[in-house]
Amino acid sequence: MQRQEKPLNLRVFAKNKRLGRKLAMVTAYDLTSAMIVSAGGADAILVGDSLGMVILGHENTLPVTMDDMVHHCRAVARARPQIPVIADMPYGSFHVSIEESVHNALRLVKEAGAVAVKIEGGRQRLDVIEALIRAEVPVMGHLGLTPQSVNRLGGYRVQGRGGKAAARMLDEARLLTEAGCFALLLECVPFELASRISESISIPTIGIGAGAGCDGQVLVFHDMLGLFDGLRPKFVKQYANLGEQACEAISCFVDEVRQGVFPGPEHSYDSETPTRGKGLNQAGQPGSRKDKETSQEDSQGYLADMENGKA
Ligand code: KIV
Repeated sequence: MQRQEKPLNLRVFAKNKRLGRKLAMVTAYDLTSAMIVSAGGADAILVGDSLGMVILGHENTLPVTMDDMVHHCRAVARARPQIPVIADMPYGSFHVSIEESVHNALRLVKEAGAVAVKIEGGRQRLDVIEALIRAEVPVMGHLGLTPQSVNRLGGYRVQGRGGKAAARMLDEARLLTEAGCFALLLECVPFELASRISESISIPTIGIGAGAGCDGQVLVFHDMLGLFDGLRPKFVKQYANLGEQACEAISCFVDEVRQGVFPGPEHSYDSETPTRGKGLNQAGQPGSRKDKETSQEDSQGYLADMENGKA
């Protein structure tokens, strides 16, 4: 029988704003992280272009391509996470023409399984955002520190300080709401301004470095779990130190291999049980993909062992 799945939709955003219930969103970039974020009870997954830094090792998010986003978003969608998957439109994907922007957003929905996209920028992106919404692609706005503008901003700085800048951001938040965005991400914004914006617009605000007055919060998976050693801004709360734990586990494995402690008998096959070792290749692994027939037989034997609790 097929697994019953809730239809994925974005209603949770409007509903939570109406009920005054905070939204929690976390980034994910692959199957495993998506499964973890979903199992942790988050309301939505953001496949952020932060993947350029925490996964691909770029210095900033500017080099991230549409193909990168589609590749990672697909892996997230394969986890069938039961919460909406929102994908970032990367730098360059919505800057050339409306047609190209719509084409790129549709790729994220049709090829990669995203339910919505996020676009950085305010007033100057209204025409693109309206075109995407006309093409049935829901859009999350993004104001404040927009990392794709790092060269223009001259670095990663708090945005919206001072009367004029604050008034401009409030105005842009209203414009994005009127354009039809379903939510607005506020990054690195003084908490007083973020609270004021949150109270003034009808769509939920999701803050990162924007204080507790937002309607929800988002954090980057690798930052909050202590998996990434790069720049750690003040707004990141580290809820675990998995990087250190992983290092300890690897070094334990390395020691055990060198001392001949691993693998023990419980991790090894013998030659007597019929399914055990059936079709294993010379390295003792299930057969290589080169030999399709052998490989299928191998994996059946291997799975049979797993089912019997022997593998
Ligand atoms: O790319 C990203 O991860 C983001 C963060 C602000 C959450 O946009």
